[in-house]
Parts: sequence; C-alpha cells; structure tokens
Amino acid sequence: MKNTKKLYVKTYGCQMNVYDSERMSEALGENGYEKTLNPDEADMILLNTCHIREKAAEKVYSELGRFKDLKTYNPDLKIGVAGCVAQAEGEEIIKRQPLVDLVVGPQSYQNIADLAANAVEGRKQIDIDFPKEDKFSMLRGVRSAQRGPSAFLTVQEGCDKFCAFCVVPYTRGAESSRPVSRILDEAKQLVDSGVREITLLGQNVNAYHGEGSDGKERSLAQLIWELEKIDGLARIRFTTSHPNDMTDDLIEAHGICKKLMPYLHLPVQSGSNRILKRMNRSHDAESYLSLISKIREARPDILISGDFIVGFPEETDEDFNDTISLIKNIEYGQAFSFKYSTRPGTPAAERDQVSEEIKTARLHELQDLIKKQQKSIQDEMIDRKVQVLFERKGRFDNQLVGKSEYLHAVNVTDPTISVGELKQVHITKSNANSLSGSVVN
Ligand code: 5AD
Ligand code: SF4
Repeated sequence: MKNTKKLYVKTYGCQMNVYDSERMSEALGENGYEKTLNPDEADMILLNTCHIREKAAEKVYSELGRFKDLKTYNPDLKIGVAGCVAQAEGEEIIKRQPLVDLVVGPQSYQNIADLAANAVEGRKQIDIDFPKEDKFSMLRGVRSAQRGPSAFLTVQEGCDKFCAFCVVPYTRGAESSRPVSRILDEAKQLVDSGVREITLLGQNVNAYHGEGSDGKERSLAQLIWELEKIDGLARIRFTTSHPNDMTDDLIEAHGICKKLMPYLHLPVQSGSNRILKRMNRSHDAESYLSLISKIREARPDILISGDFIVGFPEETDEDFNDTISLIKNIEYGQAFSFKYSTRPGTPAAERDQVSEEIKTARLHELQDLIKKQQKSIQDEMIDRKVQVLFERKGRFDNQLVGKSEYLHAVNVTDPTISVGELKQVHITKSNANSLSGSVVN
C-alpha cells in the first residue's frame, strides 16, 4: 500500500489554465497527492482542457482513449476532465467515455478535493456550476516549492463581451474580479517564495474592477499601483486586454509605473470595420489605431502584441487586405493568428463560412508579415542594453535564459549569474527566436 498518491496533470490552452492546474495540484496536494510527470505511475490523471478552437473536444476524447490501457493495468486509477471542454460538454463526457470518473468546470475548482475523494470511492462526479465564491478561496496559501522567478496570478475571470466567434463567455462565465486584498496576499506570498515577476491574468484583465479595502471598486491601474509597493517584486505584466477597456489611468501607468513592463497584448482580431462589426467587437480599426498611438505616446518603446482571426465568416479579400494594412500600420513585436474555427453555440457558427483553402492562404500571408515585423523589432535590440530576469538554465554549460522587459527571450553564457537574478545585458546577436548578449558590469 502506497502512502502518497501520484497525480498527473496535462494542461492545454491558455495561461489561466496553467495557473488553474497549479492551484488544483496544490489543492489535491492537501489530499495527499504528489505530482508526477509520468502518467503510467499515476493514481489520478487530470486533463485541464481548452475549448477555444478547432476539434478541442475530439482531441480530449482521443487522449482519454489512450488511458484505457492504464486503467486496465491499474483499476484504481481515476481520470478527471477539467477546463472549458468539461464546462461545455458536461455529462456528455462520461456518456461518451465511461472511463472518466470526474468532470469539473473552471468555476468549480474550489470543490476539486471533495470531488476527487468521492471519485476515489467510486462515485462519478460532475460539477459544472457557476457559484459566486472565489474558486481558490479554499487554498491556505500558495506553495513555495519549485517555483521559478516568474509567476501567474489570476485577478479576473470570464467575459461579458460576447464576440461572435468566442466560447469564453459561455465556458468561463460572466466577468468577475477578485478583491484587491486577496490578490495582494497572494502576490506577497509569491514574492516571499522567490518570485520577482508577476503576470496578472484575466480573459479581460483590463476590465478588472475588484473590491478595495473600503468596499469601493479599483481599476486594473489602481491594482497595479498597489502591487508596485511590494518590496522584492520587480516586474508586473498583465494579459489579455480588450481595446475598449484600455482606460486613461492604465495608459498613464504604462508611462510612469517603473515596475510595469513595456509590453502590451492588445488583440484587435481584424482590420476590417465590416468584419469587426460582424464580430461584435464594438470598436473599429481607426479607434484601435488611435488607441495604440496614445499608448505609444505614453511609453514610446512599448512592444505591441496582438491576436488575429483570418477567414471569419463572410470575410472578403478586401476585408483581409484591411487587416494587412492595419498590421503594417501598427508594426507588431509579436502576434498570435488563427484560422476562424466554428464554435457550436456562438453566433458566427451559423453564418456563411470561408473555405479552408482561403483561410490557409490568408493565414500564411498574415504570418509572413508578422514574422518580418517581429524579427525586425527583435533585430533593433542589437547593441542595446536590456534588463533580463533569468528564468532557467539553457542548453549549454553556464548558459541561462531569461526575458527582457519586452518579453524577448535572452540567452547569456556566464558562470557568475544565477536563476532569479535581474541583470543589465548588452545584446550582441539576434537569433531566430531569441537574443544573445553579455552582462554589463
Ligand atoms: N476561431 C479562431 N480563433 C479564435 N479565438 C477565439 N475564438 C476563436 C475562434 N472561434 C482567438 C482570438 C482570441 C484568442 C485567444 O483566440 O484571436 O483573441
Ligand atoms: Fe472572447 Fe476576448 Fe471577445 Fe471576450 S473579449 S468574447 S474572451 S475574444
């Protein structure tokens, strides 16, 4: 009889799922589970799933099929599905794949320990409710073990924007913000455990409006200023934002808050006003361009990143060309781009679809342009001094890899530096996906 049980967690999708997986592991840790990277030795397997694009549910079912043998070999093994596929599919998951013991949606993780215990006793568990309470309120504190110098911290969850292509408002629910005090407590614990950079997470993080100590709402900028006061915390980032919630106080913070890094992920999705309207984005290309100008006025060196969807229903060549023009106008330092993928239950799923060939061609053209912009902005770093937070060991002896203020990966070979240190680095070379340089003494 083993006294510790092993937990194998596989995470798909966004950074919030990474954060949620860590918290669930911590909650199950209190139940005696220890993490393993090897599913063969697991007593519990948890898939934390993503539903944002293409055949996500199908991928989960095929992954689950692969665990069949493990269950034959170890009849006590319990299998759980968490995340947005769990929320969207619910009991359908157990109907289609009876080897699943536990289905838990993203708003019910506060129950994970009880659900797991019941599953171990042989009762199938399904929890996809949307309760009001803070889902990680049950955790006594964040664990300090094995944490790198950079950590995620969820401050906001859900979305009320209902873009016509997106499942988030259905799987993550209505927009809600955690109170300031909870966030500050968690941030301080992270810093005490060696964290120097915190990325505030939310599906609509700049819509943050959590409660302050006086019961009044605070904006994201106000929260950032509170975090700024934490000694030992060197860097603050946030992701992901909506253009309509880019308030003046947040833009101003980018100009003057020393700990707020000059990097902004601000998705626009399309450069065509017709498509933006059909997407229900409630902003147009011009307002996005003038917003970026305003942000650059406040912080001229800020690196702009974005998300794009090509082949949204009814997108014509002209619409797509408008997206290309917008990209040329902005000059992105980074961007994520996707072919539109039909999400059942969302308004755009019912409309006239663009062919797969056209989507593929448009995606290539857009990505070629973005790659050039990204590389040229990265190349501009040559001969500049950047500040690097070293996060891990590199592939070579004495090599460390870190991130600059602008989120560029930077490699430095130097036996005198260690993980967790912040150093000024003189950039000497721009590689395919990273920079190299040496520490400035
Ligand atoms: N198809 C393609 N891309 C999508 N995204 C969201 N929903 C879809 C969809 N149905 C993209 C958007 C969003 C990012 C997280 O994923 O660009 O910003
Ligand atoms: Fe989805 Fe973002 Fe639009 Fe919300 S704002 S519906 S999360 S794409």
